[in-house]
Amino acid sequence: MVNRLPTATWGLSVLAACAHAANFPAIPSDKSTPVQQRIAVNGANSISVGWNTFEQLANPCVNYGISPSQLTKQACGTSVTYASSRTYSNAATLTGLTPATTYYYQIVSTNSTVEHFMSPRLPGDPTPFQMNVIIDLGVYGVDGFTINMDMSKRDTIPTIQPSLNHTTIGALAETINDYEFIIHPGDLAYADDWVYNIANILDSAEAYEAILEEFYNQLAPIAGRKPYQTSPGNHEASCEEIPYTAFLCPAGQHNFTDFMNRFGRIMPTAFASTSTNNDAKISANTAKELANPPFWYSFEYGMVHVVMIDTETDFPNAPDTESGSSHLGGGPFGALGQQLAFLEADLASVDRTVTPWVVVGGHRPWYSTGGSDNICTPCQNAFEPLFYKYGVDVGIFGHVHNSQRFLPVNNSVADPAGLQNPKSPMYIVAGGPGNVEGLSSVGANYSTNVFAYADDFSYATVTFQDANHLKIEFVQSSTGNVLDSSVLYKEHAEQFVVQ
Ligand SMILES: *[C@@H]1O[C@H](CO)[C@@H](O)[C@H](O)[C@H]1NC(C)=O
Ligand SMILES: *[C@@H]1O[C@H](CO)[C@@H](O)[C@H](O)[C@H]1NC(C)=O
Ligand SMILES: *[C@@H]1O[C@H](CO)[C@@H](O)[C@H](O)[C@H]1NC(C)=O
Ligand SMILES: *[C@@H]1O[C@H](CO)[C@@H](O)[C@H](O)[C@H]1NC(C)=O
Ligand SMILES: *[C@@H]1O[C@H](CO)[C@@H](O)[C@H](O)[C@H]1NC(C)=O
Repeated sequence: MVNRLPTATWGLSVLAACAHAANFPAIPSDKSTPVQQRIAVNGANSISVGWNTFEQLANPCVNYGISPSQLTKQACGTSVTYASSRTYSNAATLTGLTPATTYYYQIVSTNSTVEHFMSPRLPGDPTPFQMNVIIDLGVYGVDGFTINMDMSKRDTIPTIQPSLNHTTIGALAETINDYEFIIHPGDLAYADDWVYNIANILDSAEAYEAILEEFYNQLAPIAGRKPYQTSPGNHEASCEEIPYTAFLCPAGQHNFTDFMNRFGRIMPTAFASTSTNNDAKISANTAKELANPPFWYSFEYGMVHVVMIDTETDFPNAPDTESGSSHLGGGPFGALGQQLAFLEADLASVDRTVTPWVVVGGHRPWYSTGGSDNICTPCQNAFEPLFYKYGVDVGIFGHVHNSQRFLPVNNSVADPAGLQNPKSPMYIVAGGPGNVEGLSSVGANYSTNVFAYADDFSYATVTFQDANHLKIEFVQSSTGNVLDSSVLYKEHAEQFVVQ
């Protein structure tokens, strides 16, 4: 959401300016120690590993194998940084993995531990599984959200580790065996909200980096074990959300720089098609060439083809460009028209006899309660016609800080079939996991809305039950209570959907 800072905060900030410096995590004395660990699905038989270090690694490597005592394979990659970062971002891609198998891995360092993950399910594997959705989840602790969403306590509670309860990160840790991967389409650390902790006011460049370090450390116990697939949100764009000021940001803190450094080398492009249809193979190859991770890309996992899109830049009137509605000075990241050409080729390539389900994740919604401020009309104009044409089953968005479910809908008209084999996509907003800006009230209803919740932090789970049934649940983070549950039924009778 847009950060509308109350003027009073600026006044307080100035008064508090003599307070302490940015809340940087301690630097390990062994600077090869991996921090901020994360993994991602990178191919049908491939997982990539990302981690940061406080020194540049000449040869960043990961040892891996199917037994913790026999890490006989090794993958190596690159170690990069940007101006204003304290750390180097490392990435290595593990290939040739046997599908759906527990692997053990150890980042090569004089001070690292053996971790594990399950390798991706092959496209077409009909085994049911759960994917979790978090959007607009930010740092927890001094610079971030609190248990009570109480603004006044935000800078008095100590940093709390993710294993603790009453947070969405805590809930993800508690239920780690229930889901196989996570998608997080945008608004990740909320580093650009450094100003919410008034102690940061004279220290903004460092505070921005400190929040990034804190957030990715908090997430590491989860993201280091479960593939964590990201796409951009407005909070990744620049050092502050003040329109037209991105050029004033310190070097390295504008134009999605940290996001690119951190995730660019570990997100996938698009998978080669395993369809028997030649046109599908050609389309999938085109999508692979046009993909631009971590901004727009796709991957397949068991019964689902997931596309991640960029609702911030790279389509007509995209909001985060200098001329877009948010004026955040970001992008473009591809050639003119590249993202939409990618999306069309990618969706056209999906063989429903291999992956019956197609899910698209992005940041800004075009269906939301709370009035037109919450709607991205340029996004709707750009993406919705392709969603309908190629029969996207579910569109997953955030940006609005609450949980919402909509009936299947096209062009703002509810599909007459409801959840029983609709032609239109079903939409959810899963922006309620918690961040420093707090929750957004549900606000004015929208005609196709069937569920809206903003009383506490929550997130969504998507269970691919079989080729015809997909269950979506919203879960209250603090209790695990299911707030809303629905099952979408789709026949998936056509091998290739074009309507
Ligand atoms: C080794 O790693 C642990 C945790 O990853 C860290 O707490 C510790 O400070 C590191 N030791 C050294 C000597 O850097
Ligand atoms: C969090 O969990 C701990 C036990 O792990 C418990 O002692 C504590 O009361 C819980 N905190 C809250 C606020 O419920
Ligand atoms: C943002 O970065 C992209 C990719 O490096 C570059 O092409 C684009 O020109 C940059 N935009 C601005 C406003 O600097
Ligand atoms: C779906 O929406 C598009 C606009 O996005 C519209 O052109 C099309 O006619 C709609 N299709 C149906 C069947 O309503
Ligand atoms: C919004 O309006 C629809 C249609 O009138 C209604 O079915 C739905 O229950 C309402 N949603 C909420 C959260 O009140």
